[in-house]
Amino acid sequence: SNLNIQLYLAAYLIGSIPFGYLLAKNFAGVDVKQEGSGNIGATNVLRVLKQRDPALAKKLGAATLFLDAIKGVVILLIAKMLGASPSTLWTIAVLAVWGHCFSIFLGFDGGKGVATGFGVLLFLLPIPTLIALAAWAVAAKTLKISSLSSLIALAALMIASYLLYPEGVPGIGTHAPVWIIALTVLYKHIPNLIRLFNKEEAPVA
Ligand code: G3P
Repeated sequence: SNLNIQLYLAAYLIGSIPFGYLLAKNFAGVDVKQEGSGNIGATNVLRVLKQRDPALAKKLGAATLFLDAIKGVVILLIAKMLGASPSTLWTIAVLAVWGHCFSIFLGFDGGKGVATGFGVLLFLLPIPTLIALAAWAVAAKTLKISSLSSLIALAALMIASYLLYPEGVPGIGTHAPVWIIALTVLYKHIPNLIRLFNKEEAPVA
């Protein structure tokens, strides 16, 4: 319907807003696309700014994480209030992540989808997502490598989704959108995977 198309456009456009890039540029005068991993996510905002101003790095990193995580949820909340179906909600979730990863404001380049994926999945699939968060926390604490922790969380998410919902996630009877989000995040981590295999991946600091 017309309403769905508007929600899909809004999800993609709001997902496209590169909060990490904008915050680092405006509040620290730094282009995160040119430094560190070159990523626009919270990890790289923290990594790049830490050398200059650790307190500001923490603030802007946290703000990036929060804003990237809620940008999909905002549209999901509106859609839910308007009575959108589960398949509409899942389409919004995928489009918000794609907006973040293939941003219209960055020439269809963008982030890696971890925070935005986390937000939409926490909303639509809370229990597997909290299990993934727990896996992420343990991995981050022990390994201290953001990308590897994200990938471990991704594996935990898929395993928990299948164990809890063998017939597909509630409302749509398939795991397809969860796979689409997970594979998008995985695809965006190919440079990290190469660095991990070569033992060259940088920790946050
Ligand atoms: O959230 C992205 C994270 O998994 C990796 O970020 O900057 O280390 O490539 P980065």
